Amino acid sequence: MIRVGLIGYGYWGPNLLRNFALAPQFQVVALAERKLESRHNASRNYSAVDVLEDASELIARSDIDAVVIATPLETHFTLTREALNRGKHVLVEKPISASTAEAEELVALARRVDRVLMVDHTFLFTGAVRAIRDVAKSGALGKICYFDSMRVNLGLFQPDVNCLWDLAPHDLSVIDYVLQDEIVAVEASGYCHVNHNMPDMVYLTLHYASDAIAHLNLSWMSPVKVRRFAIGGTRQMLIWDDLDHDQKIRIYNTGIEFHPDSERVTIIPQYRIGDIYSPRVPQQEALAGVVEHFANVISGKERSIMDGESALKVVRVLEQAQKRLEASLAAVAARRESRHAIDRKTGT
Ligand SMILES: NC(=O)c1ccc[n+]([C@@H]2O[C@H](COP(=O)([O-])OP(=O)(O)OC[C@H]3O[C@@H](n4cnc5c(N)ncnc54)[C@H](O)[C@@H]3O)[C@@H](O)[C@H]2O)c1
Repeated sequence: MIRVGLIGYGYWGPNLLRNFALAPQFQVVALAERKLESRHNASRNYSAVDVLEDASELIARSDIDAVVIATPLETHFTLTREALNRGKHVLVEKPISASTAEAEELVALARRVDRVLMVDHTFLFTGAVRAIRDVAKSGALGKICYFDSMRVNLGLFQPDVNCLWDLAPHDLSVIDYVLQDEIVAVEASGYCHVNHNMPDMVYLTLHYASDAIAHLNLSWMSPVKVRRFAIGGTRQMLIWDDLDHDQKIRIYNTGIEFHPDSERVTIIPQYRIGDIYSPRVPQQEALAGVVEHFANVISGKERSIMDGESALKVVRVLEQAQKRLEASLAAVAARRESRHAIDRKTGT
């Protein structure tokens, strides 16, 4: 039995605690949460769990083998480092840290102290992503040409991270899991409608070594929630609509036929419109899979698919994208300002 402690009982923490409490491999020993009301809620729901205020007190306990961190991003690095230094296995929420340098330090530390460092990229344990990976791996899609993701909603505005750092980790972890390719260029632009310097809409484009391109439309400013992810392959195309309960994945036997250059008499492409197939997607809660995986990795039964190294890759892209985003915001602001200056001069 792995004895576990959870830090952070806000929005996501209760989902983690529920799944850890149900898992036969774990015993939830303690929880640390700063807010009094949340501590009261936790005590009401889990009378056998010690509810504390101070995270360091939880981390220091000798009756805890593993620590789960579900606090805001700015705390991930310090809490994870503290827990690893105390010899605990760690499952930390995504993204692993606020910078590449921090993520590198955590990965190196986990290796040095020989503890498991895992990051909760929950989507990797959804039935849909498992099915997508199987389809892609089987070669049924052909060579992957593009990913196109729309992850938009009205909010939820986060106080500490912009919509890039909040939403992109999901798509980045999924694409990395499915494509396993190197990114050669990153472009990003966006807009701050609500809070100055806090983009609430971001368009992110990634160029891969294999010629594939990924475009992510991320927004907290949409009137409706959309979770639509498309993959275009040379043989088939796939749409994953995460909000569609019955047909989350549709595979289109549709594409464009390419003829060798020598046979081409015209550049008009040949369209192939074929059948649509919707594989059955298991409906189990993804977090239950994450929790089971954490146990199996700790006990050496599985290699992690969401380890520190893969989480570091995600943060590397986020950091590059953040730089491009800031450059784009500054360039647009400068152009707008010079335009306004002309208007002021001409009195228009
Ligand atoms: N994997 C997913 O699909 C998913 C979904 C939602 C959120 N998250 C991640 O979970 C993390 C938390 O997000 P949230 O929406 O639950 O935030 P939240 O603000 O609702 O909850 C965080 C809680 O942590 C507590 N806290 C902060 N610092 C603490 C400390 N040092 N000691 C004890 N308690 C502390 C706060 O009081 C708060 O209650 C974020 O990293 C977020 O990205 C992941």
